[in-house]
Amino acid sequence: MSDAPDIYPPSQEFAARAHIGSMAEYEEMYARSVEDNEGFWREQAERIDWFEPFTTVKDVSYASDDVHIRWYTGGKTNACYNALDRHVDAGKGDKTAFIFEPDDPNTQEARHISYAEALRETKTMACVLTNHGVKKGDRVTIYMPMIPEAAYAMLACARIGAVFSVIFGGFSPEAIAGRIRDADSDFVITADQGRRGGKTIALKANVDAALQKTDADGPTVRHVLVVKNTGGNIQWHESRDVWLHDATPEAQTTEASGGCPCAHMDAEDPLFILYTSGSTGTPKGVVHTTGGYCVYTSMTHEYVFDLHEDDVFWCTADVGWITGHSYIVFGPLINGCTQVFFEGIPTFPDAGRFWDVVDKHGVTIFYTAPTAIRALMAQGDALVTRASRASLRLLGTVGEPINPEAWRWYHETVGDGRCPIVDTWWQTETGGIMLTPLPGAVPQKPGSATLPFFGIQPQVLEAASGEVLDGPTEGILVIADSWPSQARTVYGNHERFVNTYFTAYEGKYFTGDGCRRDEDGYYWITGRVDDVINVSGHRMGTAEVESALVLHEAVAEAAVVGIPHDIKGQSIYAYVSLGEGYTPNEDLRAELRQHVRTVIGPIATPEFLQFAIAGLPKTRSGKIMRRILRKIATNEHDALGDTSTLADAEVVDKLITGRR
Ligand code: WTA
Repeated sequence: MSDAPDIYPPSQEFAARAHIGSMAEYEEMYARSVEDNEGFWREQAERIDWFEPFTTVKDVSYASDDVHIRWYTGGKTNACYNALDRHVDAGKGDKTAFIFEPDDPNTQEARHISYAEALRETKTMACVLTNHGVKKGDRVTIYMPMIPEAAYAMLACARIGAVFSVIFGGFSPEAIAGRIRDADSDFVITADQGRRGGKTIALKANVDAALQKTDADGPTVRHVLVVKNTGGNIQWHESRDVWLHDATPEAQTTEASGGCPCAHMDAEDPLFILYTSGSTGTPKGVVHTTGGYCVYTSMTHEYVFDLHEDDVFWCTADVGWITGHSYIVFGPLINGCTQVFFEGIPTFPDAGRFWDVVDKHGVTIFYTAPTAIRALMAQGDALVTRASRASLRLLGTVGEPINPEAWRWYHETVGDGRCPIVDTWWQTETGGIMLTPLPGAVPQKPGSATLPFFGIQPQVLEAASGEVLDGPTEGILVIADSWPSQARTVYGNHERFVNTYFTAYEGKYFTGDGCRRDEDGYYWITGRVDDVINVSGHRMGTAEVESALVLHEAVAEAAVVGIPHDIKGQSIYAYVSLGEGYTPNEDLRAELRQHVRTVIGPIATPEFLQFAIAGLPKTRSGKIMRRILRKIATNEHDALGDTSTLADAEVVDKLITGRR
């Protein structure tokens, strides 16, 4: 593809129908969004319904001695009301909200769920929650498969003002227990089992195992609300467990007598907590609030995906991640759109599944992750071309940098050269899309997330000095000012929030990503500059994997680095030094990899594990030299750089000989 173009302007046909149809229009609206930032966001707030108007648009300080972020203060609204009730009230109750596409298309039927039905189910679940003592401000833990009840659970919490904390269904009992403890949550919503790629996932059993741990050291979970999904065998704890279907009749009575109306939430009341990995310590509970989050997710969903009334949107993420929160549940529903809600995986029954589903449901906008694109690309074109994909008009990616080769395959083979691609850069902490082409306006370059969304002010800093760099350059990506869906704090630990994001460069939001800006002002994300690894678009902290490893009795010390991986983007390479009396062997290697899987979950499993027989390379002050470990792992031992600070140079030679 050496003669492939470097730049792909939107087609005239696409631009003609787009909300933003030219570069001039984008630039004009962008300039206004920055120059009159408050006026701009005041207007945009009208896209959601408010029970009471706000008094202040923006009240923000990034000063490290006083970080506070508030938007639309004084306003009262409700995220569930905006996602469901108002569409039904406006006569759109019959419109399809979700097209549920099940894991196994050969044994399960797809189902259309209208806005009215989604509202009914959500109200029932909300009444079940209130009937079991859940109140505004309580933290509810959600551990669910990708079935519509996962969305109802989130919306039901939003409806009554409970703060939900969704845990991805691939996480282990240990990880669930940690998050329940941190959020001090006493109510869990789960399902008997989940389905993924023809296998069943033991969700309820994982919750049971997690609660054994939390029962030992609190908080005591009062109830586990269980959705019957597969009907598989599970253990039952009479006093604690509640079947959703058993609680439904009483809930319907409550509802009939006017129970569970939408709580009038302050714009700044927390909507959810979502745990994400950082450089150090345990995952952080990032807190998002109500008003600004609804405004920003709905606005980005409309403009970035150039949403029209007749679109069928499909975001392939799981609701356990921020992408699922913002672009399956809140953004799309607030915009009243029809979307596919997918239970399965891209490679089941075979690797043509995505494109079959596109045809089956007439998907027009498709949003997925580079890791999936690369994995499907490796399976050959025939699985793509057996589907017509004629309905597609826009493609999107998120989660990690997309390599130009995968971008071009997505464009040419999946999109038949017809569909613009929006490469969207954002984070759990940003709540919504930050850098992206607007598909009808901004010419795309494969591998670049291009330009900022409205109201977003990116800057590139020189890493050491923090100096703001102009023009074409490379450095650290920061954001100079706030936007409505920015995370407000880390749950229960504002100091950690401040230290993580606002002390690296005074007065700026530190993203943790490196980036390059080219001669056209386009941004190219170069990856994390901290100790976060991105495996298949999932964030893992090196410290988390290391702590999991040292929990094992055989391990004295561990160091973990990320190395490039063709499909996953990055994979995990672990160095382990063993305690007295343990000898390295293949069984122990397998056991340690399995151990990480058990402690955190399958996504954290080290791809390679090397025994550091002579120990880990350290400075004389005892600091592990990761830079060197990274070079050894990627076979670049000729380029180890400065090794003069090493306490014991021989350690490095031993590691090089013992490389996996
Ligand atoms: C990376 C996912 C390059 C980045 C929404 C960021 C990306 C981290 C892109 C956040 C992209 C996300 N291009 N890198 N389009 N999108 N990233 O919190 O390193 O799971 O900091 O949010 O993913 O991951 P998170």
